[in-house]
Amino acid sequence: MTGVFTLLPEGRNSLLTHPASGDLAPYVAVGGYAPVPRPDRLLEQIAAVGLRGRGGAGFPAAVKLRTVRHSPGPTVVVANGEEGEPGSVKDRWLLRHRPHLVLDGVRLAAAMTGAGRGCVYLSDALAETAVRRALTERPGDLRIDVVRTRHTYVAGEETAVVRRIDGGPALPTAKPPRPFERGVGGLPTLLANVETLARIAVLHSQPDTAAAVAGSHLVTVSGTGGASALIEAPAGTHLKALAALLGHGRADAVLLGGLFGGLHGAGWRGLPLDHDGLATAGGALGCGALHFLHPEDCPVAVATEATAYLAAQSARQCGVCVSGTGALAETLMSLAHGGSCDDTTEKLRRWSRQLPGRGACGLLDAAARIVASLLSHFPDRVDDHRGSACPVCAGPAPSDGRRFVVAVPRPDSSDSSAHPGAERTAP
Ligand SMILES: Cc1cc2nc3c(=O)[nH]c(=O)nc-3n(C[C@H](O)[C@H](O)[C@H](O)COP(=O)(O)O)c2cc1C
Ligand code: SF4
Repeated sequence: MTGVFTLLPEGRNSLLTHPASGDLAPYVAVGGYAPVPRPDRLLEQIAAVGLRGRGGAGFPAAVKLRTVRHSPGPTVVVANGEEGEPGSVKDRWLLRHRPHLVLDGVRLAAAMTGAGRGCVYLSDALAETAVRRALTERPGDLRIDVVRTRHTYVAGEETAVVRRIDGGPALPTAKPPRPFERGVGGLPTLLANVETLARIAVLHSQPDTAAAVAGSHLVTVSGTGGASALIEAPAGTHLKALAALLGHGRADAVLLGGLFGGLHGAGWRGLPLDHDGLATAGGALGCGALHFLHPEDCPVAVATEATAYLAAQSARQCGVCVSGTGALAETLMSLAHGGSCDDTTEKLRRWSRQLPGRGACGLLDAAARIVASLLSHFPDRVDDHRGSACPVCAGPAPSDGRRFVVAVPRPDSSDSSAHPGAERTAP
């Protein structure tokens, strides 16, 4: 089952229950596309409420906006809707069902940065249709292009985005320069996740709810033992509340941040939905996707599948990434199947410390973090695999990352009666 739920106290400031559906009229009726006479004031408001980017790193939105605003010459705004994480659906959902929020966010970001050109970058065909339709309806004359790419894990990394929009392959390049220094067409580029831009649009049309808008997250929850859903929740919500909503309450671990934030075992229930709180606990919120592991899942099997998926998704540009992800995945695979040697754990531990930061993008870091977290949170489960596979790993385990993939729910697909406390979203 998949669904859409909001845990916000009232729906007015929610992206999921927002009246802006695919049509223009309801959006304009609630203040959408309103003039922005003082873009500098909007920027300061974004800074005041501390809006952080929703693409993964949680970088303060106002800092990037100010940097591009103060760059000399023409600038560009890009809405990043590629959504490479297989376990996340929020960006495709927004593009498919709230395209005007995203386009208005592009318009406002362009006003704040002085950009003369915008671009929506995506890979989903239904999202493209919705955005192109919204573009024909929206007011204003800012040029906004739509660039479609092939869906891969790294296609949404910021330098890959710039490269693809400029006509090249969607592959990362070395940094610096970052896009805000030199991006699309060589121009300073404000590249922001589509959720970040949609939040800017709601914040502009409902300034009295700005703090709540900046302080909420879209989260994709999944796990083989329960349901999957797109949930909007206030920052700080304990993960146990999100898990309970979808039948994951008995999980004994969680994979954080899509494939980016590592595994967390005992104590996961008290973790907060918050960048800093999860970082303090050694994890990362990333794009906000949470995959729960149930007692019948094996953390070694899950880590093996995740690293094998990342190794297959390596863009194969950096030697250290090709060999590093390959070695991590192969070694985990042999551990899972009971074929480990005396030094297997030590090798994995050493690599997970040495590899982070050595590739051009964060894919290698993600694989290393999964391995490090497996070793630190599940030492006994790892030991159990020495010399013999556990029943789960001995069975036919998928090794292509299929377990992490979540279908994009329809806007009216929630079932509030099945999960008391959840609010049904407006279609
Ligand atoms: C390997 C990798 C993949 C990424 N994929 C995405 C993606 O699919 N979508 C996205 O918005 N950001 C992705 N990012 C983050 C972007 O590089 C960039 O930081 C983000 O789009 C900026 O938006 P924000 O400031 O609103 O968070 C990825 C980063 C890495 C390292
Ligand atoms: S670190 Fe890996 S995925 Fe990233 S650019 Fe290098 S080879 Fe490609």
